[in-house]
Amino acid sequence: QGGSTVSITVVGASGDLAKKKIFPALFALFYEGCLPEHFAVFGYARSKMSDEELRTMISRTLTCRIDKRENCGDKMEHFLQRCFYQSGQYNSEEEFAELDRKLKEKEAGRVPNRLFYLSIPPNIFVDVVRSASRTASSSGGWTRFIVEKPFGRDSESSGELTRSLKKHLAEEQIFRIDHYLGKELVENLSVLRFSNLVFEPLWSRNYIRNVQLIFSEDFGTDGRGGYFDNYGIIRDIMQNHLLQILALFAMETPVSLDAEDIRNEKVKVLRSMRQLKLEDVVVGQYKGHVKGGKSYPGYADDPTVPKGSITPTFAAAALFIDNARWDGVPFLMKAGKALHTRRAEIRVQFRSVPGNLYRRNIGSSDLDQATNELVLRVQPDEAIYLKINNKVPGLGMRLDRSNLNLLYSERYPREIPDAYERLLLDAIAGERRLFIRSDELDAAWAIFTPVLRQLEDKRVAPELYPYGSRGPVGAHYLAANYNVRWGDIS
Ligand code: BG6
Repeated sequence: QGGSTVSITVVGASGDLAKKKIFPALFALFYEGCLPEHFAVFGYARSKMSDEELRTMISRTLTCRIDKRENCGDKMEHFLQRCFYQSGQYNSEEEFAELDRKLKEKEAGRVPNRLFYLSIPPNIFVDVVRSASRTASSSGGWTRFIVEKPFGRDSESSGELTRSLKKHLAEEQIFRIDHYLGKELVENLSVLRFSNLVFEPLWSRNYIRNVQLIFSEDFGTDGRGGYFDNYGIIRDIMQNHLLQILALFAMETPVSLDAEDIRNEKVKVLRSMRQLKLEDVVVGQYKGHVKGGKSYPGYADDPTVPKGSITPTFAAAALFIDNARWDGVPFLMKAGKALHTRRAEIRVQFRSVPGNLYRRNIGSSDLDQATNELVLRVQPDEAIYLKINNKVPGLGMRLDRSNLNLLYSERYPREIPDAYERLLLDAIAGERRLFIRSDELDAAWAIFTPVLRQLEDKRVAPELYPYGSRGPVGAHYLAANYNVRWGDIS
């Protein structure tokens, strides 16, 4: 027959991530005609299920992403017919051998390429990789593994995980996923910087006062407390999602768009960062709150959370990059669950205009409040806007701050692909640009590990904040220490 084939095995197929994100993303790729002609999708998990039962389970979360186009039902049926299931323990070589047998059946004479998506807890990564890589090693095509965070809990455990994985795999086979890197606005960050003359020359301490990376969710851990309590918000969001954005924001111009060139620059900037200090961190935890007659449970009320837990569900931090471009510029991060809104954004606050001719005409008495601010709203309602001072039309001379506004829903009405679609497609294509290399991971942990240890050793009590609020006031004091106001509170 000849030609090649790709199989995608989702290990942990009955988990939430697989159902909500991975299978729907695979279907969306199929729907768009982005998957290779010969492909098969396998689910692997402990529960006993037939192929048909897997298909029924998957079909509940598949949607036709782009309106209700014709043929969607047919395409779904075609996709489901290419989905298969193998049940097994994660450390069972026999059951992986059985999977291998089924994979070979589908590969039938073609060059076999295998992608394994490990949507499972990290303590079983190595078992799975050992069995799966053994069965695949004789196959001729490529074998790749997508791994989901958490990649350890600190520098030490992350290093250990990397070493164990590398006993079975080459670095090129490991695709460490951070789904924030697959988000449209995050991808656009480099485009904005490096292909518009008006931004890059301003991208330094000379013009930028501070940078803010803000993540908030308007829901709590909702039964995910068992996982979350072991990690907390700093490990869940800051050390990965927000730090990755920061690295892309602050890195020097890469030699090219090649994955290694980009990742080299990210590592450099991460390694130029100071270790985070305890006095530059504020932690919080949400407590129960009654609003509009409805009662919202606190983190400690989550039955999956151990009694007396001090795990932070909110954190704010001030980070610094000790290099020529960013010396002295605070990079403020804020991340929290159960806050008043769901939002992820990057805010860049520029310095004030020296000797501003119009200082008397600016409404606010505080000139610092009238500086330019560039906002990249990653979600929801993707947008890029720039706050500028503008003359209020009329006979007088009054200035106010207005937005130059690029709203994606208006400019690009087509729906934006989910981050997992782009990342899966890249992993199939062998494009590593949006995946985390092991030295990047080491550099990221080096920034946060000491403070995480101190928070735990000293049992620093989190400041309680009501569910649905704007989070602990400590975050404002932290920002004020650096003469900064959070841009999302205006
Ligand atoms: C995950 C975190 O990585 O990202 C979750 O573990 C969080 O706690 C999620 O809810 C947020 O992702 P998104 O794409 O919904 O903003």
